[in-house]
Amino acid sequence: MTTTEPQLWNPAGCPVAHIQDVIPGELPAGEHMAIIDRLREASPVYVGDAAGNQYYLLTRMADIRKSYQAGQLFTNAAVTPNDPNPPYRWIPEMLDGKIHTDWRQLLTPLWSPGAVEKIKPKLRQRFAEVLDAIAAKGSCEFVSDVALLFPNVIFMDLMGLPREDADQFQAWEVTILHSERDAPGAAEAQFAAMMEVVGYFSKLIEQRRADPQADMISYVLGAKIDGEPIPTQDVLDFCLLMFMAGLDTVASQLTYNFWHLATNPQDRERLLAEPQLWPSAIEEFLRFYSFVTPSRKLSHDTEVAGCPMKAGQMVMMPLVSANRDPLEFENADKVIIDREINRHLSFGAGPHRCLGSHLAREELLTAMTMWHERIPNYRIVPGTSVPEHGGQMGITSLHLEWDV
Ligand code: HEM
Repeated sequence: MTTTEPQLWNPAGCPVAHIQDVIPGELPAGEHMAIIDRLREASPVYVGDAAGNQYYLLTRMADIRKSYQAGQLFTNAAVTPNDPNPPYRWIPEMLDGKIHTDWRQLLTPLWSPGAVEKIKPKLRQRFAEVLDAIAAKGSCEFVSDVALLFPNVIFMDLMGLPREDADQFQAWEVTILHSERDAPGAAEAQFAAMMEVVGYFSKLIEQRRADPQADMISYVLGAKIDGEPIPTQDVLDFCLLMFMAGLDTVASQLTYNFWHLATNPQDRERLLAEPQLWPSAIEEFLRFYSFVTPSRKLSHDTEVAGCPMKAGQMVMMPLVSANRDPLEFENADKVIIDREINRHLSFGAGPHRCLGSHLAREELLTAMTMWHERIPNYRIVPGTSVPEHGGQMGITSLHLEWDV
């Protein structure tokens, strides 16, 4: 790790963590989280440089939780350290204050426990279809054949889109969120894919305005905030956030869960013998493999863990760092599938806490239980690697095989 950076404003002499050291490119699975563990062991706070922008990194649960809860100081005007003045505004993730509260009130019923209860049969039907396509083959590339596909198909159902478009969405998702940052042409391909997603949703919004259906977009188009209909651009910004918040998150979590169970057969055998442990095991996987790494933009000067911070600068708060903090969890560095008290932050904290957590938990439970009823034993295909990308971390490919 680079340890000198004269350009940084660092009066307290905090350790330095350059973004390229914190988030390097592709590494073997688990390595990005191990880097964050090492940072937490060494210091509660770092200053660093992200593409020329000074940012701070917090590593302790207590500081991270408190900062997410202080929404007026730690604002959502920007949410990635290398982009403190973004020209885009995902809704509701990048809203603050009253307008954010209004949007949450509007969206909360869509993913309430009652709403999720109603779609449970659909979740089971869709996951059965995913399994039917692979079970008899004896192998799959888990990320594309299962993990990305399942939440994508559910998203299609919620948005009232044809099932056939799921493949196109999956291709856009892989290009936008999973391209190697520095690969030649990656930035252009990402931009082009994003423009296609914008085009797709713009057309859909027009169609639903003219002919409302019983789906999420029609619901938002029919709603009012402060007595006014929601402008088309805001509906589009909501669709873009949904594309990023609801698809890739469930896919990443599922893949970490299966990687863990493929490489820790003792946990898999216990879950097969004691299926009542699935809910606590899923919470523990959420804690231990928490890949979301949100950041905030400071509205005022402040100080955290003895480090003075300036208004306008970004603060990165990786959830995995909080969730593996030994000051907060006993045996924080171990996966304990029947852990009794598990107050993890994997769905965030404070005003922006995940709105889709009930749906996410139900999707995870459906997939984990149905898979293991049908394919109880499986392994990583010998000779294949399990690579992981950084940032919002995720396993890029996971080749599994089983006896048929
Ligand atoms: C395992 C799966 C998931 C995880 C780990 C996850 C995690 C998170 C986290 C950490 C945040 C807070 C981000 C921040 O503080 O900046 C968030 C926000 C959000 N999530 Fe999720 N999420 C998951 C699935 C979903 C699903 C399935 C949906 C909806 C279908 C969803 C919808 C949202 C929305 C709308 C927000 C923004 C809330 C706001 O800004 O007020 N998420 N999620």
